[in-house]
Amino acid sequence: MIDIDRRAFFAYLGGAAAVAGMSAEARADALENFLAVSTAAAAASAVAARAPTVAELEAQIPTRNYRRGVGNGMVARDGGNVALLKPLPAKPTLADFIRLRLHSNAEHCMQSARQARLKNMDEDIVFACLVHDLSLSLMRAEHGFWSAQMFEPYVSEKVTFAIRHHATLRFFPDQETGYEYPDLYRTMFGTDYVPPPHQQEEYRQVRRHRWYMAPRLVTVNDLYSFEPGVKVSVDEFEDVIGRHFRQPREGLGFDGSPVAHIWRTAANPDSPL
Ligand SMILES: [Fe+2]
Ligand SMILES: [Fe+2]
Repeated sequence: MIDIDRRAFFAYLGGAAAVAGMSAEARADALENFLAVSTAAAAASAVAARAPTVAELEAQIPTRNYRRGVGNGMVARDGGNVALLKPLPAKPTLADFIRLRLHSNAEHCMQSARQARLKNMDEDIVFACLVHDLSLSLMRAEHGFWSAQMFEPYVSEKVTFAIRHHATLRFFPDQETGYEYPDLYRTMFGTDYVPPPHQQEEYRQVRRHRWYMAPRLVTVNDLYSFEPGVKVSVDEFEDVIGRHFRQPREGLGFDGSPVAHIWRTAANPDSPL
């Protein structure tokens, strides 16, 4: 006898009232369809239980209604809808953006900054950790470069370097610092993924740079910073922000800097153009 999930079957049909209105024949047909769908879903989840290959990930591309590079704040990936955003102050600060706009990855960033602080790392590294992934709300593809660009006018050259190159260093283990290739990347990029030539070249250059350890330490704190239950407030980093971020008087987005439009995009991602 086939064991079927009665509740799932009723839900599949549209609820008990819908089932009551169906003929016996229609119910039999529906059951057959339901079993076919369930088997396909079970097969799909068995595949999901092991990390996919690059080719398998590529085959998934036309099964989505968004591209994987789109910003986390731009699409509701759980199938629900995006939320109405709360207004920003007229002259928004970095802390305002972290609280109200770039929050999709802010928790992870703050956890990694806390890690860096607990390990007594230099404060510029703590700050780099605090902001390293904030551009992910806007754009996932090339996020090291997007984040670095957003921050470049307001931070030191070394902090920019750390943010820019952390993303590429994530693909390259470093035994000396204890940094290993993340398991998560096997699922995200495929078990047989090889970084493209431009990224290999970026790694070679960064590896021999005098500031190599800056982005490397960002990656070291990246690994342990996805704890779901841990809550960190941006207030904890008020002092670090004050010392490492040149907050524009006019507010982020309104200072006429070459990256002001990126902050305005973050401020108003609902703008149709
Ligand atoms: Fe990152
Ligand atoms: Fe990160």
